[in-house]
Amino acid sequence: MPPLKILFVSPEVDPFVKVGGLADMVGSLPKVLADRGHDVRVVCPAYGSIKIDETFSPREEPLGVDVGAAAHWGKTWQTHLPDSKVPLYCLEHGQFFDRPEVYAGPWGDHPDNDLRFTFLCRGALTLCQQLGWIPDVVHCHDWTTGFIPLLLNTTLRDSPIGRAATVMTIHNLEHQGYCDRRALDFAHVPAAEFRADSTESHGKVNMMKAGLYHSTKITTVSPTYSEEIKRPDGGFGLDHVLRFRAADLVGIVNGIDTEVWNPATDQTIPYTYTAENFGGKTTCKAALQKELGISIDPHVALFGVVSRFATQKGLDLLAHCLPSVLEGMHVQFAVLGSGDGALEAMFRDAAARYPSKLGLYVGFNAKLAKLIQAGSDFFVMPSRTEPCGLTQLYAMRYGTPPIVRATGGLIDTVDQYAPGTGEGTGFKFEDATALALANTIGWACSTYYDQSEEYTRLRRNGMAKDFSWGASANEYLDVYRWAIAARKGE
Ligand code: ADP
Ligand code: GLC
Repeated sequence: MPPLKILFVSPEVDPFVKVGGLADMVGSLPKVLADRGHDVRVVCPAYGSIKIDETFSPREEPLGVDVGAAAHWGKTWQTHLPDSKVPLYCLEHGQFFDRPEVYAGPWGDHPDNDLRFTFLCRGALTLCQQLGWIPDVVHCHDWTTGFIPLLLNTTLRDSPIGRAATVMTIHNLEHQGYCDRRALDFAHVPAAEFRADSTESHGKVNMMKAGLYHSTKITTVSPTYSEEIKRPDGGFGLDHVLRFRAADLVGIVNGIDTEVWNPATDQTIPYTYTAENFGGKTTCKAALQKELGISIDPHVALFGVVSRFATQKGLDLLAHCLPSVLEGMHVQFAVLGSGDGALEAMFRDAAARYPSKLGLYVGFNAKLAKLIQAGSDFFVMPSRTEPCGLTQLYAMRYGTPPIVRATGGLIDTVDQYAPGTGEGTGFKFEDATALALANTIGWACSTYYDQSEEYTRLRRNGMAKDFSWGASANEYLDVYRWAIAARKGE
């Protein structure tokens, strides 16, 4: 099979800019594809939070992007994804990207997100033409890149880049990029595209919908989520579009970077360990307890949380059952996250009431995220919806059985513990209620305290699983080839 030219366009790329797991995916899959001989390149915005240092080089030629009334001028900074030859191009634009946040500031979503991300879409395609590098396929990620398939089907169809196929990956259907019609004018897309089977939803422009109608093929990040989003109760209003495009939609479970996330070699945790010897993990637990100021006790069952604080993640369920769990069970919690103000306040209250049992860090802290994965005995993820979820994969890789609600990718990636057999990798519950979660925490506790051999087997089962990109990268290559053939009309 000949190597492919693949362009990733994304609002987030780990480790340069990260809000959630989308960044992890875009920071890792391109490297795996490049290792297999493909020419993969990545484009993202040069947000104010990205430190442009000597590892970046500026492109001489300014980036004139044909959006708005008069062209918008940007600049391109080039670097590489760490430990790889994959080029990363960061697009600078003072007005649109010189601010630290990706999607939202302290007062909510940036009101010019439609313009900012239209610039990203058109800018990425302009850059390819400038480089004389026409990708076979453009891999788009979530609503911010939804105008790429639209542009390639309309305004740019007859240009050299118009032959590129597109694959749109839905990381989270909940966020769709609703905006005013001005976005179409700004993108120079014909006004006729403002219709229900293209970009229009409820009288507004919907950037995700544009991507879903116009991309050559669609993927999402787990098989179960690909089914859920075709149903009215799981499609966030776009289920009809996904049913319409069902023949072009595939669910591919995310892989993880098994080099970055490896407890045997991880230099960011205080002690490394393997499935044969958990000594280092016990020491990580003590380090975590010390770091968060809770009592240092090797015997207590310690439950970790690393999450965006958002309704999607179901952490309100945890906040509601925390007092009864902390008072009724011999447990500790290590919680890292930020987002929803009401949830932050609930966790702060609980941490103040139970200082020796609940350790809390409000904010984003990549190092602490790893220490929680390594030092906890269980990982809690009560998501209402979860397209894939990476933190439960990291937890299993670090020997920390996850407690998850049975939804989306959590169904596909966690195997239910079967008491008496020692089989399984974690604990799944069905109902999105505080009671169901508290019960499952209780189940985990009794396994930890009363069935320690089975608990150890659970840990080992998770660590023995292959969560690397291996198989999923092959599936993406199949989808790229399928899309390229479809675009050529084969
Ligand atoms: P989502 O993308 O929906 O947030 P995922 O489980 O796919 O959920 O990915 C979340 C990613 O973000 C993981 O890499 C996780 O470690 C990281 N993360 C989430 N919250 C924080 C935080 N407060 N500090 C550091 N890393 C975080
Ligand atoms: C989204 C989803 C999460 C998924 C991640 C990476 O943020 O919420 O479930 O793991 O994207 O695909």
